[in-house]
Amino acid sequence: MEKRIVPAQKFSADIALPGDKSISHRYAMIAAIAEGETRIRNYSTGADCHSTLGCVRGLGIDVAGSGTEFTIRGQGLDGLRAPAADLDAGNSGSTIRMLSGILAGQPFVSRIFGDESLSRRPMRRIMTPLAQMGAEIRAREGKFPPLEIHGARLRPIEYALPVASAQVKTCVLLAGLFAEGETSVVEPVRSRDHTEIALREFGAEVTVERRKIAVAGRPKLAARELAVPSDLSSAAFFIVAALLVPGSNLAVRGVGLNPTRSALLDFLTGMGAKIRVPNLESHNGELVGDIVVEHAPLRGGTIANGLTAALIDEIPVLAVLGAATEEGIAVKDASELRIKETDRIRTVVENLRRMGIAAEELPDGLVVPGRQKFHAARIDSFGDHRIAMAFAVAALRADGESTIQGAEAVSISFPEFWETLARLG
Ligand code: S3P
Repeated sequence: MEKRIVPAQKFSADIALPGDKSISHRYAMIAAIAEGETRIRNYSTGADCHSTLGCVRGLGIDVAGSGTEFTIRGQGLDGLRAPAADLDAGNSGSTIRMLSGILAGQPFVSRIFGDESLSRRPMRRIMTPLAQMGAEIRAREGKFPPLEIHGARLRPIEYALPVASAQVKTCVLLAGLFAEGETSVVEPVRSRDHTEIALREFGAEVTVERRKIAVAGRPKLAARELAVPSDLSSAAFFIVAALLVPGSNLAVRGVGLNPTRSALLDFLTGMGAKIRVPNLESHNGELVGDIVVEHAPLRGGTIANGLTAALIDEIPVLAVLGAATEEGIAVKDASELRIKETDRIRTVVENLRRMGIAAEELPDGLVVPGRQKFHAARIDSFGDHRIAMAFAVAALRADGESTIQGAEAVSISFPEFWETLARLG
């Protein structure tokens, strides 16, 4: 599918966004192994989170509901059934990596696979700790999906994560639920902590001491009533749109502002953006609030070290923004970007150049000088949702009509993206 984007005039918008993808995955997985009916409101409409629901159903769990509201009838830690068919994780790295932690603790064998992009993404990062815990995992070429997971009685471990990855942390903590004793993970830098918060909500004992997170094994998890905040990583595209189009302003309501996710707002504010976050509240342990943004000229900045990990999903759209800042944006320490849904360093630089934007590709990052003009272009999403959305936003600032090929990719995290973009006028 191809989408045509015309440049935007200044806009004033108040928009709604889908539920947070990271939190939706976690609620669905933990609900499946909790006891009783968990009701989840504002569940992500993205295909990735529906892949998780499909896998949960494949494990014998009843999932009722539609749209954004689901009821998951959890059967407790020992209540999953051997799947009759291979589990399909679709495009979702979160589904395959996090669910593998649960599958590793089961008294059965399961197979989980994904689409072409997921089939090229590295799985050793979860296979290593799960093998240490006692599970046997076979993978294509020893490292790629499909995975065949031979569940076992797991041993607790203390695992020092070699990469900053919340998916791997989550995988180990979920596996730790099935081990007798305490399982812990030590992170190189702090990553999103939705799993820790969600596990506590369901009644698990989680302790955090500096960068070490520990979970007590064999907890009794109790069903909950949960509401998912709107997704800040989806809001990022519209926040950047408001910062790119002079005179614009934007309000987004009920967005997840967990401090391990909200580095985006600090980074933008540091460059001169005018952002307010009224109506802060805590829901199910997660910080939630509105975001109000007004266009302002931005200085530019550098994303490196721990900040790179904290902004990892927002870097494509921040790279776009860089071209419109005074001094540009440099991204470093971002080799993880090369193994996302696409090699996002390559796909961002390629599309920037198509728009006539100079950008330098580094082995582990990119540099986008500031004060550049966006030219209308034919953009390719390369099947990557965040690339499609980042460049749809870039096209708002172009000098004519641009096209986005592979526009359907947005359905992975934000199926309503094109309608929402149209509302900006
Ligand atoms: C996620 C963690 C990040 C992020 C992904 C969602 C999560 O991946 O890029 O979109 O929900 O835990 P990594 O764990 O690979 O860094």
